[in-house]
Amino acid sequence: MRRDERLLVSKIQDGTVIDHIPAGNALYVLKILGITGREGLRVAVVMNVESKKLGKKDIVKIEKLELKKDDVNKISLIAPTATINIIRNYKVVSKSKVSVPERIEGLFSCINPRCITNQPREPLKSKFRLVSLSPLKMQCEYCGYIMSHDEILRQLTGG
Ligand code: CTP
Ligand code: ZN
Repeated sequence: MRRDERLLVSKIQDGTVIDHIPAGNALYVLKILGITGREGLRVAVVMNVESKKLGKKDIVKIEKLELKKDDVNKISLIAPTATINIIRNYKVVSKSKVSVPERIEGLFSCINPRCITNQPREPLKSKFRLVSLSPLKMQCEYCGYIMSHDEILRQLTGG
């Protein structure tokens, strides 16, 4: 860990560190995880610190929280370079890089108003297929609409 980061925020005892988030995206990561700060969990957010790999990066540390698979998939869409570190008793017990799944079900909605998933009927789970990683594009399996990165981000963050 670099000195400037160490000065900003200390190590955590138990929880999750989401590292190597592209600079400027830490708040989106908190938003998609639904963390508001009112849960009472200890949360540290570090923005725009130096990173060997990325130039600059953000870091989110959340004590006590363990991420579910859907959370990790959502993070991969917003922060494809992110590393998820699980911390137990101050030690990194697991480190993994996120990866964008080839298929995603039910994580965000298709924005095509004519899509069958947006018709008033029995609820239908959204389904998307990865068509491009950079720039991120995912195609709705029902109507063929291709969601751009910005559209996916807006769906995930409700902004
Ligand atoms: N971390 C933490 N609390 C701990 C242990 C680690 O907050 N008790 C944080 C570190 O500050 C770092 C991340 O978890 O942001 C990963 O820790 P570590 O693997 O020790 O750091 P690096 O080797 O620099 O990780 P990488 O190789 O993934 O860059
Ligand atoms: Zn659709």
